[in-house]
Amino acid sequence: MRRKKLLAGNWKMFKTVGDALALVRKLKISVGQVRDREVAVCPPFTSLKSVSEILSDTQIRLGAQNMHYEKEGAFTGEISPDMLADLGVVYVILGHSERRHVFGEPDDLIAKKVQSAFPRDLKPILCVGETLDQRQADQTRSVVLGQMEAGVRLLSADQAKFLTVAYEPVWAIGTGHTATPRQAQEVHEVIRGFLQKRFGPVSEEIRILYGGSVKPENIDELMAERDIDGALVGGASLTAESFSRIVRHNGGGA
Ligand code: PGA
Repeated sequence: MRRKKLLAGNWKMFKTVGDALALVRKLKISVGQVRDREVAVCPPFTSLKSVSEILSDTQIRLGAQNMHYEKEGAFTGEISPDMLADLGVVYVILGHSERRHVFGEPDDLIAKKVQSAFPRDLKPILCVGETLDQRQADQTRSVVLGQMEAGVRLLSADQAKFLTVAYEPVWAIGTGHTATPRQAQEVHEVIRGFLQKRFGPVSEEIRILYGGSVKPENIDELMAERDIDGALVGGASLTAESFSRIVRHNGGGA
């Protein structure tokens, strides 16, 4: 099955509202009407509403970088799935390695967040990936499979259709050390096999993105791999010029 590629920009904790608007206005011109692949931007919470307004007449989808799993409640500082859906958010990044490692989010919390996306029609982007120590200790496969197993623990096959997975080796994030296409493909194949076993035929619809120092210079070779269905882009999504080049890459077709 041919899965439509998804190129998603994770802006992390960058850009004031003014900066976000300036960036998204440029993206609207350069990639706002791209249809043969899907484009998404994930600004900080503070810019979601303003960015949503600018994107309303484009093909670019809006994503968030995190959320709580409850609908509402006494959770100071948190944002709920309902609040995101209300702003036109479509995608939500969950279990990003910075959430796991800097903020200590455990697998069972991430599983609840993934599950809570569905009642509001949000599409989770579940991030998994090994640290450098784990790779060197030959634990990549077991770590990634463990995170996958835990992250989708509460999902039915019907819900899994709307899932996106992002393989992001922690040692490649923000370091300039991209995984080679071969290294990435190897892990993507493991994830694809897991999804097939767990969800059956619908797993063919689940996209597996690669993330970790993706740039205009390496996107083509990464996208040419069979099981890489798009990219989650951090640093290189912060300027319209580089993100547009990534969106318009040639490798592997749409
Ligand atoms: P990077 O970040 O592209 O800056 O390495 C990717 C990510 O953390 O999603």
